[in-house]
Amino acid sequence: MLKRTIWWEDGRIGLIDQTLLPERYEQVVCSDVPRLIRAIQRLEVRGAPALGVAGAYGVALACCNALEGQVDLFYSTVLRDGALIRSARPTAVNLAWGVDRVLSAVMETADPKAATELAVSLAESIADEDEMTCRRIGSYGAPLLPDGCTVLTHCNAGALACASWGTALGVIRSAVLEGKHIRVISCETRPLLQGARLTAWELHEDGIPITTIIDSEAAYLMQKREIDCVIVGADRICCDGVFNKIGTYMHAVCAAHHQIPFYVAAPKSTFDPYSRMADVVVEERERDEVAMFSGRKTVPDGVPVRNYAFDATPLSLVTAIITEEGLIRPPYHHPWLMP
Ligand code: MRU
Repeated sequence: MLKRTIWWEDGRIGLIDQTLLPERYEQVVCSDVPRLIRAIQRLEVRGAPALGVAGAYGVALACCNALEGQVDLFYSTVLRDGALIRSARPTAVNLAWGVDRVLSAVMETADPKAATELAVSLAESIADEDEMTCRRIGSYGAPLLPDGCTVLTHCNAGALACASWGTALGVIRSAVLEGKHIRVISCETRPLLQGARLTAWELHEDGIPITTIIDSEAAYLMQKREIDCVIVGADRICCDGVFNKIGTYMHAVCAAHHQIPFYVAAPKSTFDPYSRMADVVVEERERDEVAMFSGRKTVPDGVPVRNYAFDATPLSLVTAIITEEGLIRPPYHHPWLMP
């Protein structure tokens, strides 16, 4: 299993370039905030909890670099950089959460050097916490998976999407650790194929049986009773619904139709009870992710493309939310879901 997806290394941020997997495993070093923002926007680092850690390390990096500039500009530079990192991707609330947690500690520390040391150690503890949180999510979720079951998942909510272990895939890992035999179906997750490239890669590396299907095959497998449950991660859980990778809602509707349990695994840092589904800015990505495939044009010039990166699943379709503090079940009258 991957030790770390993102880490702190000699005053810089190291990460695995997820755009290259499964063909190549390469590490990237971000020495400044613009490079980190590019890594976030290109999905070199991606997945809500990993973005939270990237946001936290990003503020630490901003501090280290600001310390080398004019001391009287330290706080204004770090504030500006924090705002830029925060807005690099709009939907996963963890990114803003990670930035804000470190930024507020920095702003409360009067000496720039002390503020920088605090930022680095806080970011390191956010990364460590993330792995422990995922393991707790795993231990609460594992009992939901019967021995011998087949689990469908969408996108990548694994070690690559977190500091380590994973949320949805963490539940699967924990069940396997308990000795259960679990088979996983990963939907390929058009257009950037996080399910085919990343989920399949990391589970295969761990020796967990994994089969990849095209997204539109999921409904047919449910109809054939080949899926026992669905587990996905989340980018933002509002008071009325769950944002996750585009295509998640489609699986939730199909699962409800076939009376298959649909679980969401996510840490507290993904909850945003102050927002409703309709308020959230959903990232729209560039045309060529859809209009090109493997270097070839797949959509005629002049035909518009819609490329939303996420969709919203109403809580009414969710069987349970698996968190580090236990399961949240309908009717979802839970403090984390109430503004
Ligand atoms: O666009 P991505 O790859 O960052 O989208 C990631 C997802 O939608 C994940 O399912 C979500 O962040 C949960 S990761 C534990």
